[in-house]
Amino acid sequence: MFDQSLLLISSHLADTNKIALIIAKLLDAGVVLLLYGNLGSGKTAFVKALAAGIGVEATITSPTFTLIDEYDCGRLSLYHMDLYRLSSQEVKDLHLEEYWRGIDFPLGVVAIEWAERLEILPDTYLKLSFSRLADSDRREIQITGKGDQFNKIISNQSLLEFCNRD
Ligand SMILES: Nc1ncnc2c1ncn2[C@@H]1O[C@H](COP(=O)(O)OP(=O)(O)OP(=O)(O)O)[C@@H](O)[C@H]1O
Ligand SMILES: [Mg+2]
Repeated sequence: MFDQSLLLISSHLADTNKIALIIAKLLDAGVVLLLYGNLGSGKTAFVKALAAGIGVEATITSPTFTLIDEYDCGRLSLYHMDLYRLSSQEVKDLHLEEYWRGIDFPLGVVAIEWAERLEILPDTYLKLSFSRLADSDRREIQITGKGDQFNKIISNQSLLEFCNRD
């Protein structure tokens, strides 16, 4: 197993929405998305579109204060977390691994903002690193798959259209 990576450019919010919709259609139950990047880089925006793509009709808000939001009304359950305000001990106490073990919660899509705060990572995950380019709407989104099941995302033709654009 080796990591495969894709570097995408989103020129505006609509691109991020399209990218998230493409990825949503390729996700299976139990997948963990680790979202990295600064404040305002687009992590929650991405999760909102991802949620729509898996059929969650509820309004997605940032779980900065609730820490974990669960949505069970889509093709797959969505567990959306934001670790920004937490210390490493508080992150450990959340026992996030319960969400990808599939015993206490039905397996779904786990999306974790501020994954920088995680000390222990799942065995397989899709890593998405967001960065804001200059003073504009442009965002760089680096997608890395840790696990062979992500090859279909990394090599997806529709996503490749967002690579290497000026
Ligand atoms: N290309 C783009 N992709 C994503 N969001 C964009 C883009 N261009 C502009 N935006 C705007 O940038 C903001 C991104 O905010 P968002 O809440 O998604 O950031 P975040 O990474 O979740 O930040 P935080 O760390 O505070 O949770 C939104 O207001 C969104 O409309
Ligand atoms: Mg956010």
